[in-house]
Amino acid sequence: IDTAIVVVAAGSGTRLGAEEPKAFVAIDEHEILRHCLRGVLRARPAQVVIVAPASHLEAARRLAAAEAGSAMHLVSVVAGGATRQRSVAAGLAALDPRVRTVLVHDAARALTPPAVIDRVVDTVRETGHGVLPVLDVVDTIKRTDGEFVTAHVDRSQLAAAQTPQGFPREALEAAYASASADFTDDTAVVAEAGLPVRRVAGSETSFKITTPADLARARDLVRRASR
Ligand code: C5P
Repeated sequence: IDTAIVVVAAGSGTRLGAEEPKAFVAIDEHEILRHCLRGVLRARPAQVVIVAPASHLEAARRLAAAEAGSAMHLVSVVAGGATRQRSVAAGLAALDPRVRTVLVHDAARALTPPAVIDRVVDTVRETGHGVLPVLDVVDTIKRTDGEFVTAHVDRSQLAAAQTPQGFPREALEAAYASASADFTDDTAVVAEAGLPVRRVAGSETSFKITTPADLARARDLVRRASR
């Protein structure tokens, strides 16, 4: 196995307003994390490292075993940290020594198509660069300081970042070892360390479940797909 996917699922999900940590909130009879794993396990075989809240390690293991079946030997579960970046670092510490290509994926992007995952892996292998799946921005976006609009940004130069983001292992580990600020995505961490980052096509269904409206959209998509 020369590829790994770190699935970060250790967030609390404050904006979703649920009792459980976000990854353990149900979409249908299955949780956000389980739906995410389904997509990950339908992509080409890879080591899967799930980063879960310390309170939910056993729950994550159980749900992963139910989804992975005989592929469970590829899956491990580790405890996350206080920020997304620390959770990613915890996942990187659990990589198999043979792994050369690493993807980092938000559990909250539960309905990401396996084809996007494979595309990211292929592009990392072909180029040796960081790889970011994106969508064109449909809204007009402004820079603001809170009270005033400070810049009018050309939409054609913008892209909406998704996950999984992919990297050569050494580059990602080196970038994490020297990371200064706390970033909300991994391409920002490697870009700071000087690695070029390429874009590939993301997907409408890779949206991040963040608010109750996002959860309703995910439920609707899953319901339609099962008909
Ligand atoms: O909060 P947000 O949805 O933007 O987080 C993106 C992803 O990072 C989620 O899948 C969440 O579970 C994960 N995360 C984490 N550890 C944290 C914060 C977020 O694994 N401390």
